[in-house]
Amino acid sequence: MITLNVDLGERSYPIFIGQDLLNDKSLIPPYISGRQIVIVTNETIAPLYLDKVLTLFSDYQCETVILPDGEVYKTYDGILPIIDRLMEKKFDRRVTLIALGGGVIGDMTGYAAAIYRRGVNFIQIPTTLLAQVDSSVGGKTGVNHPLGKNMIGAFHQPKCVLADTSTLNTLDDRQLSAGLAEVIKYALINSSSFFNWLGSNMSALNNRDPDALAYAIEFSCQDKANVVAADEREEGQRALLNLGHTFGHAIETGLGYGNCLHGEAVAIGMAMAADLSVRHGWIDTTVQQQIITLIEQANLPTQVPVVHGVRISVQKFIELMAGDKKVLDGQLHLVLMDALGSSFITSDFDTEKLNQTLHAFATA
Ligand code: NAD
Ligand code: GLY
Repeated sequence: MITLNVDLGERSYPIFIGQDLLNDKSLIPPYISGRQIVIVTNETIAPLYLDKVLTLFSDYQCETVILPDGEVYKTYDGILPIIDRLMEKKFDRRVTLIALGGGVIGDMTGYAAAIYRRGVNFIQIPTTLLAQVDSSVGGKTGVNHPLGKNMIGAFHQPKCVLADTSTLNTLDDRQLSAGLAEVIKYALINSSSFFNWLGSNMSALNNRDPDALAYAIEFSCQDKANVVAADEREEGQRALLNLGHTFGHAIETGLGYGNCLHGEAVAIGMAMAADLSVRHGWIDTTVQQQIITLIEQANLPTQVPVVHGVRISVQKFIELMAGDKKVLDGQLHLVLMDALGSSFITSDFDTEKLNQTLHAFATA
């Protein structure tokens, strides 16, 4: 097992990464203060892992909330079953919520924990690659609004994160690839050597080689832990973690939540960021091609799809991006690239060049 630490003073917490960690009854209890627990999961994950997780908490007053599965349920109303159960059971401020699932369950459970009685403890047990490398770490919680992704939420850090890499064995290939998008993101932000490692190990990752996956998860979590420790509330450099996300969120919202996976949308968004960076002369087409090749090796898309006949026009992109969280004082900030493995945040881009990128990727 590898243990990393997210260093946030008195709110610091460990990330445990390893195989079969759900068999270890000793890891989580030190991070639970009361005797009350609510495990939140969904109807896909419950039959796979809920019994195993319940055995970890046989000594606690334990409730289970099983939500429907899907990004489309990550809404304000979608968290009410969690709040209702907490109220019905009169759970007090020492209750701990446990998120068992991917990023959707993690974001929703974390947000419910942030608002119930103005904040109670929660723990993340991420079961997708995307959640193990990104969403379970860093304390961003929340839900979507029909007009914008993750627009309602709170910063609320978990007490610990337990990433049992064995749970990835039941994940389907498309979801594994979606997680690889966020792994590639870390390489593009600040590590050409990790980029090269990914190039040499992508087939091992696609084939779920445990050592390759463990290294990719460890590298990603360490990177994220460093960024979060330095800028917890995204007042500066944490925004780099949004590489590909401004375009990606517009794609997810524009196509309808759930029609393009978050990781797929981020992959396309990174291709769009590379395109815009080339148009400014900040990277050359050789670097762009290396990026596209790596994304494709992870079996991820680099073009905006048309799903159920839904297309995204340039106008739609502009509208959705204007509502993005990276708009500050009316100015859009984007994460763009200036070398392989080097990204930066800027509002100083040419809007005509952005228009050209949008035209190159729009489908209507
Ligand atoms: P997800 O939570 O929808 O999970 C993907 C699918 O895999 C679901 O159908 C789920 O039921 C299923 N699943 C989960 N674990 C499984 C397992 N072990 N075996 C079989 N099936 C399993 O999607 P995701 O990609 O994990 O997360 C995407 C969400 O995370 C988005 O809403 C995104 O906005 C959010 N996100 C948040 C942050 C953050 O910092 N909070 C960061 C990145 C992404
Ligand atoms: N996924 C972006 C962040 O956590 O900041």
